[in-house]
Amino acid sequence: MKESQPSAIYLKDYQVPPYLIDKTELTFDLDEATTVVTSRLHMRRNPESTQQNAPLVLDGGEDVKLIGVAVGDCALPAEAYRVNEDKLVIDSTPDAFVLTCETLIEPQNNTSLEGLYRSSSMFCTQCEAEGFRHITYYLDRPDVMSVFTTTIIADETRYPVMLSNGNEVERGKTEEGKTVVVWHDPFPKPAYLFALVAGDLAVKEDVFLTQSQREVALKIFTESHNIDKVDYAMEALKRSMRWDEETYGREYDLDIFMIVAVDDFNMGAMENKGLNIFNSSCLLASPKTTTDDNFLRVEAIVAHEYFHNWSGNRVTCRDWFQLSLKEGFTVFRDQSFSADMHSDTVKRVEDVSFLKTAQFAEDAGPMAHPVRPASFIEISNFYTLTVYEKGSEIVRMIHTLLGEEKFRAGSDLYFERHDGQAVTCDDFVAAMEDASSIDLTQFRDWYSQAGTPIVTVTDSYDESTKTYQLTMTQETLPTPGQDSKVALHIPVRMGLLSQEGDLLPSSLDGTVSDEHVLHLTDFEQTMTFENVSSRPVPSLLRGFSAPVKLRYEYSAQDLLLLMSSDADGFNRWSAAQQLAVNELTQLINQAIQGQALSVDSTLVDGFRALLNDGSLDPAMVALILALPSQAYLSELANPIYPAAIKQARQHLKKQLANTLSEEFERTYHEHNMAVDYQATAEQIAHRSLKNTALSYWVETGTEAAIAALTKQYETADNMTDQFSALSIAVHGQLSNAGDLLASFYQQWQNEPLVVNKWLALSAGQEQDNALQHVQSLMAHPAFDLKNPNKVRSVLGGFGQNVSGFHNADGSGYRFLADQIILLNKRNPQIASRLCTPLTRWKKLEPTLSALMKAELERILAEDLSKDVYEVITKSLN
Ligand code: ARG
Ligand code: ZN
Repeated sequence: MKESQPSAIYLKDYQVPPYLIDKTELTFDLDEATTVVTSRLHMRRNPESTQQNAPLVLDGGEDVKLIGVAVGDCALPAEAYRVNEDKLVIDSTPDAFVLTCETLIEPQNNTSLEGLYRSSSMFCTQCEAEGFRHITYYLDRPDVMSVFTTTIIADETRYPVMLSNGNEVERGKTEEGKTVVVWHDPFPKPAYLFALVAGDLAVKEDVFLTQSQREVALKIFTESHNIDKVDYAMEALKRSMRWDEETYGREYDLDIFMIVAVDDFNMGAMENKGLNIFNSSCLLASPKTTTDDNFLRVEAIVAHEYFHNWSGNRVTCRDWFQLSLKEGFTVFRDQSFSADMHSDTVKRVEDVSFLKTAQFAEDAGPMAHPVRPASFIEISNFYTLTVYEKGSEIVRMIHTLLGEEKFRAGSDLYFERHDGQAVTCDDFVAAMEDASSIDLTQFRDWYSQAGTPIVTVTDSYDESTKTYQLTMTQETLPTPGQDSKVALHIPVRMGLLSQEGDLLPSSLDGTVSDEHVLHLTDFEQTMTFENVSSRPVPSLLRGFSAPVKLRYEYSAQDLLLLMSSDADGFNRWSAAQQLAVNELTQLINQAIQGQALSVDSTLVDGFRALLNDGSLDPAMVALILALPSQAYLSELANPIYPAAIKQARQHLKKQLANTLSEEFERTYHEHNMAVDYQATAEQIAHRSLKNTALSYWVETGTEAAIAALTKQYETADNMTDQFSALSIAVHGQLSNAGDLLASFYQQWQNEPLVVNKWLALSAGQEQDNALQHVQSLMAHPAFDLKNPNKVRSVLGGFGQNVSGFHNADGSGYRFLADQIILLNKRNPQIASRLCTPLTRWKKLEPTLSALMKAELERILAEDLSKDVYEVITKSLN
């Protein structure tokens, strides 16, 4: 452990910057070993600051070497400035001046993938959140917005493509014959949106005509061997640009929009102004190498980063506590876009499943934090599911409360009022309020209160008066630093069904409708519905109208009724999911107690009806048939017995497979169509149902099923079908799984993104020697510790491996802790993310819990990066 430990910074301490930077001129003399960065910052004191005599303190990093600094024409003598750890402090400055700094950085030694670094043969940058300070000294905070001009000097034979934000305005040669390219971005921006790329790249070009008839040049750059995989991203980009014009009235503002794919990237992608940089796994797509899920992910991320041009770049964040201002809103925008491009119900089910599995777990664990955190040690740790996904749910609730039209008026006002500014979540809500005249005072607490509210509903029906009463309570359990909780404003969209499954209109506060939005604002509230003709079954929280845990004692009959008849597609899925959860909960308890597992017939009957109803959307049928995941069941459990959950799921799957084998076989064949691959909602739906049916059918172990799987694997002309067959063989523990895995690697060894899928599947393979197997994968030539995608594939895959990771002797936890220690200094962001499974130790059954805790303590004894330190200490608290 270090002597002095990193400390937290607080939202309540926010102060406006003492200095502003009107213009930023950067020159990069690019070199792999030592790049010289010269900055000329046109600075002045901020008239709005109360600290008019404060020294100038610029952010830097231990990896930035200062060569010289000048104010105006005068080089500063050594006594006029000092470098304190990572800050450059200049005690006195004029009110307005040009500060020149010369610094050296070492891109090829940069393994953290923050700032300027090398990925394969190229240079690239990642500056969000606080990466720019690893390039040069700067006021590295989002409320300092500046107009950037960037000069890149490099050897053109190796770096023919040299890019930065905005427009290329000049090109020439130095005396030594190097190429000089100058880029100018007319839009003021914070340093986190700065980007630079240089490399020998291929380009795919296109044009977009904006709604005001301006031509925008679109360019996607990749290494030359990948340029055949960008057509889908290009089309997705054009769809996104059109959608943002039509849905939000937002037009693109520069004459050129560029995307670059890089292999080594900590996250998914980055919205740098005019120059988005993508993890290649989130951009490249082709039918032969990319699954349906990955196609949809590419489309969603292309849209997400493009949408940031308004929600993030034109209007940005005042400070990093406001991260959800841009991320929550932009996730909401990309979710709405994908829903419009494909099926809104399917999209909603997928997003909510993910939220309830992963965000709910985060919100119930030691890292729980509000959507607008009040403090942090390392901001990189707050690019979380809470900030992104729960942040999006908050925006969605505002949409529900205001309705489509007023919501649009609110977003128009927000963009108009704050264009060119760095603002807060509160400014966003205020614009929504002002445009709609709807009071969101209480609603704002969603931003500051952590934890998932539990909403419990009871009801009663009075036959004689035809009235129906719903009593709702809300409770949010304590989270770290927040012992007592307030009542939130929770919108509950709902309707009533008759016992026959028909719509049952009702009157609430004088409004007669099939559907109402209830406003739960107190800890306990009773709503009375009039003119309800018969005892209803309530359909609650339609479309998942609020991110809460809903508790209502549905009978199995109620759930079957909702599943088959509710007007809300999302709630039909939700009822089926609840039915499966109920069944699995019983089986898990039997498994924990060492009893024989016995399956009830309700779910079987429900699934049979589903498989025999040809009128349903195959995508929805597939979603319903997919049993609740190990991760979701773990989120629901307390304490968690991983092996019992696994056993229960396997048992139920086998029972369903054996009882409904004919249905699954028939469904497989019905949806096994010969078509030219396209990533359309319709085709994806058929493939998804077909492959789900196959996963059950092979559980019967019949020769016909195994033969169908093998044939599909061998003859598939697209990755979805090939990889599904392979995954089913591996997860179904078929005897040919090993051979198929080997042949898959053989076939795809030269396609790194496919190899990553192979790594993840191999690492997730349940087997006796799972840990040794994972260790051998890390020694495999396809593995590379420097590449986050590969680390995530292997260690992420291993984290799903119940027998390997949750090994009873703790060796799985020890192995993961070793990897965290190994990566702690090299790549703190990735090391910190790898800690997530260990942060759940308190919820595990006692033996595993103790083993996990010991590993956290072992990690804490190391000299830790801020990133890992924060997660480990908070977890042990
Ligand atoms: N703003 C990016 C996005 O679109 C995320 C980048 C965060 N990167 C990081 N290293 N923290 O979501
Ligand atoms: Zn984003």
